[in-house]
Amino acid sequence: MIRFERVPLIKGLKLYTEEKNARFHMPGHRNEEDMEELRYLKENLFHFDVTEVEGTDNLHYPEEIVKESEILLAEAMGAMESLYCINGSTASNYAMIFGLLRRNDRILVQRNCHQSIYNAIALLDLQPAYLIPEVIEDFDLPSIVTLEELKRMHRKSPDARAVILTSPTYHGTVADIERLSAYCRENGLYLLVDEAHGAHFSFSDLLPQSSIRRGAHASSVSFHKTLPAMTQSSVLNLSALLSDKERSRIRHYHRVFQSSSPSYPLLCSMEMTRYYMEEHGERLYEELIARIEVLKADLLTIPGVRVLSEKESRIYDTTRLVVNTPLSGVLMDETLRREHKIQCEMTEGRNIIFILTPFDREDDLMKIGRAIKDVHDQNELLWNRKDDPQSYVRYAMNYPLLRKFKESDVLFMEDEEIEIKDAHNRVSSEKIIPYPPGIPLILPGEVISDEVIKTYLHLRSHEANILRSGTGGNDTIRVLREEV
Ligand SMILES: Cc1ncc(COP(=O)(O)O)c(C=O)c1O
Repeated sequence: MIRFERVPLIKGLKLYTEEKNARFHMPGHRNEEDMEELRYLKENLFHFDVTEVEGTDNLHYPEEIVKESEILLAEAMGAMESLYCINGSTASNYAMIFGLLRRNDRILVQRNCHQSIYNAIALLDLQPAYLIPEVIEDFDLPSIVTLEELKRMHRKSPDARAVILTSPTYHGTVADIERLSAYCRENGLYLLVDEAHGAHFSFSDLLPQSSIRRGAHASSVSFHKTLPAMTQSSVLNLSALLSDKERSRIRHYHRVFQSSSPSYPLLCSMEMTRYYMEEHGERLYEELIARIEVLKADLLTIPGVRVLSEKESRIYDTTRLVVNTPLSGVLMDETLRREHKIQCEMTEGRNIIFILTPFDREDDLMKIGRAIKDVHDQNELLWNRKDDPQSYVRYAMNYPLLRKFKESDVLFMEDEEIEIKDAHNRVSSEKIIPYPPGIPLILPGEVISDEVIKTYLHLRSHEANILRSGTGGNDTIRVLREEV
C-alpha cells in the first residue's frame, strides 16, 4: 500500500489526473488508450530505459540505430540533419546559438522570444538589438516580426551576424519565413527559428510549412508541445545552408547541453511520434481542422467573443485556439476548470489559450464552446462592462532593455529588496518572468524603467503567474545596492 502523504509530488499529480479534465495543454498526447503505438511504448517504457551498450548506440556519437533513426527524422523534417534533444527546445536553442555565434556577436532578436534565448544571450554575452513584433490590438498580443522591421533594425545594426525569431508564437501566429530567410541569405545573416510550437507543421499540408523548409538555417521544434511525444522531447533541425564545420560545431554544443545519459524512453517517444505522424498525420489534421472550424463558428456566436485567425495573422496555425472574451483570462480559466473540467494551456489578459491536437476527443473539443457560452450566461454583468481597455502589450514590447551589468557579475554583487513602485532607474538583481509564456520582463543587470514597473503592476492586477528568481514579496523587487 503506497503511503501517498510520503510522496507529495505523486500525490499531487494523482489528484490532478483524477479530476479527469479535458486537457488542452502540453504535452500534445492525451494518454490515448486506443493508439496501438503509444500503448506499445507505455508497455515497454521501463524495458527500453537502458544505457549505451552494444546494440543501443549513443545519442552523442550516433553510428547505428540512433543514426538510422535521425536520418529518418531528417527526411520527415525536410532538414539536412536532425538531432534528437532530450532537454527540450531549451537545449536545442542553446545548441544552435552556441554553435553559430561567438562571444560579443551582435544579433537581431525578436523581443517576445522565450527565456532560453535570453539566457543564451546572457551566457554568450551576445549584443542583442531587438526586433519589435507586430501587435494584435484586439487581443493585446505580440505577434510576429515583419520583413520591414528586420530591414529597419538591420540598417541600425549592419554588423549583426544572426537573426533569431520565434515562429509560430505561443498564439499560433507564423512569420513569413520565406521572405525573411531570403533577406537573411542575401545579407549574410544566419536565420535561427525557435519553432518550439510548430513541430506538427511537418506532418500535414494543411498546416503552415515549417521554417526549415522555408529557408531557415536551423530550427528547434518541441515534439512534446503539439505532438504525442513525452515532455522534454525536441528536435534540432539543420539546413544544407550550413557548412559541415558549422553543423559539427552545433553537434558539439548539442552534446554539451544534453544529459550524458540521454533517456531512451524519450528518444523512442520521438521516434514513434515521427513514425505515427508520417503514417496518419494528413488524415488526422484534416479531421482535426474540420472539428476546429465547427468549434470556432460555435464560439463566434457568443456575444463579445473573438477567436484569433488568419484575419489577424496572414499565416496562422489553426490548431492553436486563442479566445478573447470580456472576462479576465484568470477568472475564465478558474471557472472552466472548476465548473466544466476543462484545463487550458494558459491565459494572458483576456485571452485564453488552448493547444488543440488530433488526440483531443471531439466531444471534449465541443465542450469548450458550450462551457464558454455557459460562463457568458452566468456572468452577464461582468461580461458587459466596458472598463479597462486592454493596453498592455504595445508598451510592454517597446520599452528599451538597458543592460548595465552582466548577469554573471550581478549574481556576485550586493543587493537589497525595495518596493517595485520605487524601483525606477535601479538595476534589477533578479529575473521576473510571466510564465507562461516565459518571455522575461526584466533580467539581472537590467535597468528598471517606468514601463517595466507599469507592465509588472498590470500583470499583477491581472493575477498573471509570475516567476521570480529573487524575492518573496509580491510588490517588491531585488535591486543592486548602488544607484544607477
Ligand atoms: C517559444 C518557446 N521556445 C522554447 C521553449 C522551450 O521549449 P522546451 O519546453 O521544449 O524546452 C518554449 C517553452 O514553452 C517556448 O514557448
